Amino acid sequence: MEQIDDYICRYKNYNFVLTVGASAEHIDSLETFHVRDSDIFVVTYPKSGTVWTQQIVILICELDGGLNDYPNNMEQMPWLEYPEGRPGYSLRPSPRLFNSHLSPALMPPELKEKKGKIIYVMRNPKDTVVSFYHFSQICAELENPKTFGDTLERYLEGNVLAGCWFDHIRVWNAARDQYNILFLTYEEMVLDLRAAVIKICSFLGKNLSEAAIKEVVHKSSFKTMKEDRKANYRFAPKERLSGDFLRKGKIGDWKNVFTVAQSERFDQIFQERMADMDLKFIWDSAEQKEEP
Ligand code: A3P
Repeated sequence: MEQIDDYICRYKNYNFVLTVGASAEHIDSLETFHVRDSDIFVVTYPKSGTVWTQQIVILICELDGGLNDYPNNMEQMPWLEYPEGRPGYSLRPSPRLFNSHLSPALMPPELKEKKGKIIYVMRNPKDTVVSFYHFSQICAELENPKTFGDTLERYLEGNVLAGCWFDHIRVWNAARDQYNILFLTYEEMVLDLRAAVIKICSFLGKNLSEAAIKEVVHKSSFKTMKEDRKANYRFAPKERLSGDFLRKGKIGDWKNVFTVAQSERFDQIFQERMADMDLKFIWDSAEQKEEP
């Protein structure tokens, strides 16, 4: 692992957070990680709605017949790349749920045999960088930025956790045919949470009753999650996380933070890097209604 600053280290062309104990041995061990058909992985670029999707998947699995009991969402669905001293993942009972920010190259190769399921969530990169900027101020594992401009520069250079947004989206999109994978956007989840929950249920093969779907939607709404100690990560020690995990939960908060010049520059880079992509990005047309 090559340490690139006090917070980030690079290994196999990928940026890990140093302080949560990323290790080359563990990352190497993923090459022989045995995937079970019942495994579910939520994969994202940071600040794209990981913890939200985590809550939805946990609720769906709980209501579908139960999950093993763990004290909080982090233990129920831990990070694939950061075991943080947990006993070996091979010892965990099924169904196993994992979060990950990894690129396809570092994911367990057995996933390409279409074992297990991946839910990949994307979000407007302008909103992810703003969310990352605010999160860096409350998360001890990330460098506390001096200004938004500093964060934006590091983000565009890919010198942040998980590297560059453009690369993450590109490599996952290019690899999509190799996996059992559902692509979702944060924006579609905000605009129609019920439809997103139904889509996830159908992908996971979970046939929930109408009442159960209603419960998932209610318990994964921004308002409910914000007040839920488990979902809002209030269980995390204050020295690691000094504020609420859930911040605003909005589409387009970037407009309150980017200057016109920063936005124009970002758009130009987006155009250069993503013009040839066959993905349809919905966020420019996405308009959000206020939650009741
Ligand atoms: P904001 O900082 O823009 O509010 P991740 O879990 O990948 O780190 O993403 C965090 C972002 O998802 C934060 O965005 C957080 O508020 C948002 N989020 C979490 N739960 C949400 C929910 N139920 N509805 C909408 N946004 C949610």
